[in-house]
Amino acid sequence: MKVGIFFGSSTGNTKNIAFLIYKKIKKYIFCNIFDISKIDFNIINDFDILILGSSTWYYGKLQYHWYNFFYYNKKFIIKNKIICFFGCGDKLNYKYTFCDGLFCLYKRFNVNNIIIGYWFNIYKFKNSKSLLFKKYFLGLIIDDNNKYKKNIKIINIWVSNLLLKILNY
Ligand SMILES: Cc1cc2nc3c(=O)[nH]c(=O)nc-3n(C[C@H](O)[C@H](O)[C@H](O)COP(=O)(O)O)c2cc1C
Repeated sequence: MKVGIFFGSSTGNTKNIAFLIYKKIKKYIFCNIFDISKIDFNIINDFDILILGSSTWYYGKLQYHWYNFFYYNKKFIIKNKIICFFGCGDKLNYKYTFCDGLFCLYKRFNVNNIIIGYWFNIYKFKNSKSLLFKKYFLGLIIDDNNKYKKNIKIINIWVSNLLLKILNY
């Protein structure tokens, strides 16, 4: 099984999280990491498990590079993959669209693929499309306002759970 991490990041926050996830996963299983703005999209097909990350911009929009990716690859279909999601947002300043961008990714990929990595909500906000059934997030959600150490802890727990699932496939 090969794991590919693909991220879109404007100011580097999602990128940093992507690299933290990468460092942990590569200890256990073959894993590579890509900035979605810099790849030939066919690379995605080399991987069995995709870990896809995006921040949210402009009140609920997908991060710009992902947006471009879909714009220029309209006919590109991803199927029969195991997919999980992670994303960054800001629950204080964007409490009505907290991490909505991730839901845009989810909508693109939740058909024809197996989604894993759903996660608990630990944040207070008004609304998020990424909170499914008002219960659990469709992936790892990291808030800007959290302290770095707390984020590391959350990321480590999420990745450990993910690895348990991945290594069982
Ligand atoms: C203009 C602007 C719009 C934003 N819109 C949202 C939003 O709708 N929802 C959200 O959760 N975060 C929003 N954010 C916060 C970013 O998603 C957050 O800062 C994130 O960590 C950026 O990650 P990146 O550097 O990987 O792109 C916005 C930030 C800016 C500056």
